[in-house]
Amino acid sequence: MMTLQGRRVLVAITGGIAAYKCVELVRRLKDRQAQVRVLMTESAQAFVGPLTFQAVSGEPVHTELLDPAAEQGMGHIELARWAEFMLVAPATANHMARLAQGFADDLLGAVWLAHAGQKIIAPAMNQQMWRAPAVQRNAAVLQGDEVLILGPASGAQACGDVGPGRMLEPADLLAQLEALCFRKDLHGLKVVVTAGPTRERLDPVRYISNFSSGKMGYAVAEAFAERGADVDLVSGPVQLSTPVGVRRIDVESAGEMHKEVMLLASFADVFVATAAVADFRVDAVAAQKIKKDASGLQLNLVPNTDILADVASLSEECRPFVVGFAAETQQVQHFGRDKLERKRLDMIACNDVSAPGLGFGSDRNALWLLWKDGSCQLAEASKKHLARQLVDHILEQRTRQGVHD
Ligand code: CTP
Repeated sequence: MMTLQGRRVLVAITGGIAAYKCVELVRRLKDRQAQVRVLMTESAQAFVGPLTFQAVSGEPVHTELLDPAAEQGMGHIELARWAEFMLVAPATANHMARLAQGFADDLLGAVWLAHAGQKIIAPAMNQQMWRAPAVQRNAAVLQGDEVLILGPASGAQACGDVGPGRMLEPADLLAQLEALCFRKDLHGLKVVVTAGPTRERLDPVRYISNFSSGKMGYAVAEAFAERGADVDLVSGPVQLSTPVGVRRIDVESAGEMHKEVMLLASFADVFVATAAVADFRVDAVAAQKIKKDASGLQLNLVPNTDILADVASLSEECRPFVVGFAAETQQVQHFGRDKLERKRLDMIACNDVSAPGLGFGSDRNALWLLWKDGSCQLAEASKKHLARQLVDHILEQRTRQGVHD
C-alpha cells in the first residue's frame, strides 16, 4: 500500500549543497503519488534554480514572502494550511536557529509558524557545526516543539571532513518519513475510545456535567486512526470535529455511553476510556422543569455504572486490552496503581490535574503510564503528541502481555 499517496507534503529547501539531493527527493515523493509543493529560501536558489523544482514537482515554486501574485493565490497562510507535512531539507544551522526562535521575516519562517501539521527537518552541515553547542541547543528546542529531526547521517562531507552532518539520502529520508509519519501498520485492529463529559439530566432544562473538553480522547482516536486502525469513538457532548477516519457515536448520559460501549467492546482489540463519566445521576429525572423554592433543592443521586470496570470484567475470550485514565490531584502514582488493580485494567494513564495549564480544557498534558509490572512518564507535550506515544506504549504492552495478531 502506498502510504504517501495523496498526502500533501511541503518541501522547504534552504541553502546548503545538499539542496541538489532534494530534486531526487521531490521526484520520489511524486513517484509515490504524494502532492508536493516546494518552497525555497533565497540562499537555496544559489544552489539549485526554482525552475528545476517547478519541473519535478509540476507546481510553481514559492520563494517570496511579499509576492503580490502569490498573496492573491497561495499566500504563506494558505500554503501552511494546505500542507499536511512540512519537511525542511536540507535544514542549515542558520535556519535551524531561525526556526527554533520563531523568526517570521522570510517565507520559510512565516509558513513554519502558520503550519499546524507535522514538522520535520533534515539537517545538513559541517560535522563540527552540527556538534556545536548552539546547534545542539536549537535541535533540542525544536524537538521540544515536537519537530521530528531526521538525520543527519555520518560520512564524508563536501568540505572534506568526515563525521555527522550529511543530509540523509533521499531514499533513507523517504523510508524514515514513511515509517514515522505515514505508517499504516494497524489495519484490522479494532479500537473503542470514550471521550468528553457526560450530561446527567435533572429536568428538561438542567443537567449535571463536568469541564472535560474531550481533547485527549479525540487525540487518542486520531492517533490510532492515522495508523490505519478501525476506530469507534463514543463521545459525550464536545465542541470538537471528528478526526479523519474515525466513526463517532454521540451520546449524552453515562447510561447511553455504557450501552454503546458494551455493544462494541467485546469485538474490540483495545478499549481506551478517556471520558470523564459523571459518577452520579439523579434517581428520577423530573418530567417538568423544577420550580425554584426558597428552601432550596434536594437531589437524590445514585451512582452510575462504571463502564471501564464493566469492559475489564468481560470474559477472557472477548475482553479487549483495557486502558483507563485517572485524574488525580495528589499521590498520582499511588492512586493510579490502586485504580489499575481495583478495576483490573491492563494500563492506566494518570494525569495530575493540579498542575497549572495542563489537563482539563488545555491542549497540553503530561501523563504517568502504569501497568502491572512497570511504569513510564510521558513529559509535558501536546495532547496529540502524547496520544501518539500512548498508542506506542499500548501496542508494546499488549504484545508483551501475549496478544499477537
Ligand atoms: N469511568 C468509566 N465509567 C464511569 C466512571 C469512570 O468508564 N462510570 C472511567 C473513566 O473514563 C476513566 C476512569 O474510569 O478511564 C476513571 O476512573 P474513576 O474511578 O472515575 O476515577 P476518578 O474520576 O479519578 O475517581 P476517583 O478518584 O474519585 O476514584
